[in-house]
Amino acid sequence: MSEPRNRYSAVSLTLHWVIAALVIGQVLLIMAHDATDGPMSRSFVNLHKSDGLLILVLTLARIGWRVANPALPLPDAMPRWQKIFARTTHVLFYVVLLALPLTGWMASSAAGRAIEWFGLFNWPLLPVGGGREAARSLMGVHALVVKGLYVLIALHVAGALKHHFIDRDNVLHRMIPIIPRRP
Ligand code: HEM
Ligand code: HEM
Repeated sequence: MSEPRNRYSAVSLTLHWVIAALVIGQVLLIMAHDATDGPMSRSFVNLHKSDGLLILVLTLARIGWRVANPALPLPDAMPRWQKIFARTTHVLFYVVLLALPLTGWMASSAAGRAIEWFGLFNWPLLPVGGGREAARSLMGVHALVVKGLYVLIALHVAGALKHHFIDRDNVLHRMIPIIPRRP
């Protein structure tokens, strides 16, 4: 009998942790933008836009990788509803990680604001009309989806800690391999 698959590839681990760090960075950049004024404040938003579009590219790559390499099975001891709940939050994460950059990109496009990607080149704008009014509505959606992101992060981290400290299984170990494996 073949060994059950019990570890994520280096690609899956790297994508998970790089995207997680960039997402937290996005929130910190907006906090820095809110706390400052003038050119400095604007440069935080510009960085937020570049960083967000990088998340879009990485998330598309991650979805491609995930389709080719299905997720590891969840522990047999988990009740069916918990498995469905965990998988649903993962799918919703992908939806949110696409919706946030897309609404941001569409808003910049509607307002006709150029996006200089990390100062390297002008990121193409989408053919979205409607001017400032459309941009404002799209930013309303952006801010609403952000609330969903916060709920997902809270559920996700609570779930990871429950696996580690209450269920005492290896789900956290396989995403953070430096945590010792439980027998
Ligand atoms: C904003 C930050 C984060 C995002 C967007 C995120 C997103 C995701 C997604 C989408 C998956 C599912 C992978 C798949 O099967 O397709 C996942 C798995 C996982 N994440 Fe996160 N994550 C974040 C932060 C964290 C943190 C802080 C922890 C630890 C405390 C964590 C622990 C895990 C674990 C243990 C799994 C594996 C679940 C399994 O093996 O089925 N994540 N994460
Ligand atoms: C996964 C990627 C992204 C995340 C996690 C994210 C997150 C956030 C958060 C937390 C806020 C603050 C919302 C509020 O105050 O209610 C925000 C605002 C904003 N975001 Fe994003 N965002 C992302 C991608 C983008 C992209 C790609 C763009 C544009 C190309 C963008 C443009 C903006 C703008 C213009 C604001 C308003 C800043 C202001 O207060 O003037 N975002 N975003």
